[in-house]
Amino acid sequence: MRIVRTIHELRDALQSVRTGGSIGAARVGMVPTMGALHEGHLSLVRTARAENDCVVMSIFVNPTQFGEAADLAAYPRQEAQDVELAESAGVDLVFAPSVAEMYPTGFATAVHVSGPLTEVLEGAGRGSAHFDGVATIVSKLLLAVLPDNAYFGQKDAQQLRVVQRMTQDLGIPTRIRSCPTLRDEDGLALSSRNALLSDTERASASRIPSALTAVTAALAAGDISVSRLRAVAEEVLVGGNLDVEYVEIVDPDTFESVKFVERPALCAIAARVGTVRLIDNTLLVPQ
Ligand code: PAJ
Repeated sequence: MRIVRTIHELRDALQSVRTGGSIGAARVGMVPTMGALHEGHLSLVRTARAENDCVVMSIFVNPTQFGEAADLAAYPRQEAQDVELAESAGVDLVFAPSVAEMYPTGFATAVHVSGPLTEVLEGAGRGSAHFDGVATIVSKLLLAVLPDNAYFGQKDAQQLRVVQRMTQDLGIPTRIRSCPTLRDEDGLALSSRNALLSDTERASASRIPSALTAVTAALAAGDISVSRLRAVAEEVLVGGNLDVEYVEIVDPDTFESVKFVERPALCAIAARVGTVRLIDNTLLVPQ
């Protein structure tokens, strides 16, 4: 496995993958990450490995998508361990650029996806600049690699939708693949931020997936009213030491609010546990 730190080196390495060897037109898969790798990231790599000849992972803590400087500073960084994990999961090439490589002096461009998709939920909670930061860095990464396939987790469902919208609108010739959320035994979605939780905070955090399960069960029992389903979630969350930011049920494509779950809808939750902000979601499918 190789590590490259500049777009120039990355393009050189990919050039030889694409033209060299006996494969001819090698399929390239890409997994963009911010590092602090866990099994969730590695599950994306394994899917990419199965569907491509060459797997590229980017590791870059993207400053422009963080609202608060403290959150950016606290974000876990562990490159040596990440490189080992990436290699063991089957990554061929790691792209780990510096901030100056991705945002050189004079950088003045942003990719903005407009509409409710970027304004509600995470767009509201983390500030409107968040998805501009995501769309800008993901376009830069996809343009640098031009992968056939790029892999994103359903854990960040709104991000996944923003990336799909952006690649379609800009005509970036990459297929965006959606991968399921990996969870720990207590149901908590794997996240790099979980490492920042104390034991008691972790117990509170596990109420988030419990709330999603309770909503799924209430829907299965026939309750399709969004206001009642949200109340079901809030009842589970209220017992823990959580600062709930939102519990929303939205159209999974447009992220517009819905009143009744008559078609598949996304139930999404954001909450703070101490200083750590966690998000999770589940797709609600009426019977
Ligand atoms: P990061 O949080 O490192 O996540 C990288 C990818 O892993 C994302 O597509 C995310 O949805 C996926 N992922 C995270 N936790 C997961 C889990 N428990 N199960 C399955 N997949 C999971 O998301 C980002 O980085 C950044 O915003 C990025 C897209 C790299 C742009 O900077």
